[in-house]
Amino acid sequence: MIDKISNLRDAAIGRIKEAVNSAEVEELRVKLLGKKGELTEMLKDLKNMDIEERKQFGQKANALKTELTEIIEGKFKELSVKDVKKSLSSGSNFDISLPGTNFKLGSLHPVTIVQKEIERIFTGMGFNIVDGPEAEEEFFNFEALNIPKHHPARDMQDTYWLENGSLLRTHTSPCQVRAMQKYGAPLKVIAPGRCFRNESTDASHENTFFQLEGMMIDKNVSIANLIYVMKLLLSEVFQRDVKIRLRPGFFPFVEPGFELDLNCMICGGKGCPTCKHSGWIELLPCGMVHPNVLRYGGIDTEEYTGFAFGLGLTRLAMMKYGISDIRVLNSGDLRAMEQFSVR
Ligand code: PHE
Repeated sequence: MIDKISNLRDAAIGRIKEAVNSAEVEELRVKLLGKKGELTEMLKDLKNMDIEERKQFGQKANALKTELTEIIEGKFKELSVKDVKKSLSSGSNFDISLPGTNFKLGSLHPVTIVQKEIERIFTGMGFNIVDGPEAEEEFFNFEALNIPKHHPARDMQDTYWLENGSLLRTHTSPCQVRAMQKYGAPLKVIAPGRCFRNESTDASHENTFFQLEGMMIDKNVSIANLIYVMKLLLSEVFQRDVKIRLRPGFFPFVEPGFELDLNCMICGGKGCPTCKHSGWIELLPCGMVHPNVLRYGGIDTEEYTGFAFGLGLTRLAMMKYGISDIRVLNSGDLRAMEQFSVR
């Protein structure tokens, strides 16, 4: 029995050595070690042996299996090196030194990066993320926000009207009323999204831009809560203390209303085209939700109050990354966009 193994070993090693290509080696591997291979067949005899013989034979057979596997692998390697050398010397036009095809990975748009970051901050405070249509109904964009027909405030937000009577939303505020109607109070939501205005474009104005609306409604919500959340938001986004100022601001859907301005980070407050040479950027209009708006949302104004804000996402991204011209963001110019490598 043991002889059978050493005979098989000698013959097998000889045949492997003589093989001239990988196909032959593979054929031998199957013949020797495959399911119906010679060595495998031999192992089937184990069951007819007595214990002592079975032990010896089993050990030898397994050792041979390991040895042959190693020799076969070695032979495969040897042949593949030969194949490459042969193709090089035979003048084949396959150049193994050529670098591989470089697949370019995309990167996130700076506005998306900032949006995700803010979503992370607010979901951490228990806010939900909601959505609304870009082609919005007049009711949600204006009426329900306390901006009736013919109110002069409509002129500040000149928009694109669609033939079916709806319009491209001028802000994300319509999401406030949609969220109140859908979920009721108490409510903590943010609504990021694209907005449109009929603007003449310059370094800080575009007809298409992104805002992020926020709203919190509960019992006893006050301006103190609003200021706290706004400060927390900005210091998290910029990862440092930021200089801000609050001014009274008029928006028909908040009372009182504020403009929260950020010290311009492009020029450090000295004045530049981005901040219209004022040193400040209007970033965060906000205020306490007007009772009329709460009523349109179906909220009991005796029981609940709330604050709302409309963050200029596009502007925030410009501040964070030092982008001085808003038009770059919609330009699709990869030389600009590729700099933001977060994926
Ligand atoms: N929607 C307002 C705008 O686009 C901003 C705003 C939102 C103001 C929420 C107050 C509260 O100008």
